[in-house]
Parts: sequence; structure tokens; C-alpha cells
Amino acid sequence: MHSKFYNYNSQVERYLRFFKNIDKHKKILDFGAGPGWSLFVGRYLGYDIVGLDVEDKLWTAGGTEMGILRKYLKTDEHTVLYASNEIPFEDKNFDIIICKASLDKGYLKDQNKEIELNRILKDDGIIYYAPPEHNRFLRNIKSENKKVLNITSENVDVDNYKELFKIAKVCVEEFLRLEI
Ligand SMILES: C[S@@+](CC[C@H](N)C(=O)[O-])C[C@H]1O[C@@H](n2cnc3c(N)ncnc32)[C@H](O)[C@@H]1O
Repeated sequence: MHSKFYNYNSQVERYLRFFKNIDKHKKILDFGAGPGWSLFVGRYLGYDIVGLDVEDKLWTAGGTEMGILRKYLKTDEHTVLYASNEIPFEDKNFDIIICKASLDKGYLKDQNKEIELNRILKDDGIIYYAPPEHNRFLRNIKSENKKVLNITSENVDVDNYKELFKIAKVCVEEFLRLEI
């Protein structure tokens, strides 16, 4: 129970820090939003943010605790669901795409991920990316009760993922720093 709530708090805190540096007028997509931490915090702060996922997880996992807060705060976040190799959004739609531990499985083939995410990103848009290894790395450290002092892209194999995005600007370091 303790770890569940600890996790919940750290996820919310992470996104509170994330949004501090994001312009209120930016249009944001959380690709693979899962339980919707970013959506909940983003909508609460008044951002134009929507989730995309292959499964609706807003009311499972961390979403259970968030459900109580959602009802209380009347936030109205939602996730768009899809099941194909095409992302159901228009070209050049988003200023920011968040990809947190969400690029490794699902319906999009590898070549489509690059093409599709770049297609829906505006020309000056940014992808904030954190690889799944990063989550596992953090979990291991926490389970050993070690303090996470400094995490950079050197701790994870990000070159592989950077290759996926040839057009978009990818901010890996910025997102990784949020975990500290
Ligand atoms: C490990 S969870 C991470 C959830 C959330 N980003 C977070 O950090 O809490 C990965 C999520 O990505 C979603 N996902 C996987 N492949 C996807 C795809 N091709 N398109 C959209 N979502 C996808 C999964 O359904 C899942 O909700």
C-alpha cells in the first residue's frame, strides 16, 4: 500500500514539474498515456492535452486513485483509443508529444512509429521521450533503497530510440531529469 501511494505521488509530482516549463498554449499528446498521470495533471492545470492508447487504462492501475481526485476536481481528461497502424490525428497537430515507456509494443510497426509521430507533430514540435529501461532502472534502484541522485541518458540506451525520430526534435535529457 505504501509503495502504491508513493508511486502515485511521485507520478503527479513528476508531471507538476514537467508542466512548469511548458507554455499554456501548447497542444499536447501523451502517446501511450496508460493510467493518464500526465492527462490528469495537465487538465487540472488547464492544458490542451489528450491521451492516445491501444487500451483504456484510465480507470485501472494508478487510475483508481486518480478516479477519486478526478471526480472531486472535475477534471475531464480522456484517451483516444485506436487499433491500427495509423494514428487517428491530422498532420501537424501537436506541439508536444510525450512518449513515456510507450514505444515498444502495440500496433504500430517500427517504421510507422517514426512516420506517424513525425506526421502529427508540428514542424517546430518536440517529442519528450523516456524509454522503458529507464522505468525499470528506477524501480530497481528504489527497491534497493538507494537514492536516485543523477540520471542521464548515459544510464539508458537511448541512441536506439533517437534513431527512430529523424525529423522531430527529441528531448530525452529533459524528461529523464524529471525523475530525480
Ligand atoms: C508501460 S505503459 C506506460 C504508461 C504511461 N506512459 C506512464 O508512463 O505511466 C505503456 C503504455 O503504452 C501503451 N502503448 C503501447 N503501444 C502503443 C501504441 N502503439 N500506441 C499507443 N499506445 C501504446 C500501452 O497500452 C500502455 O498503456
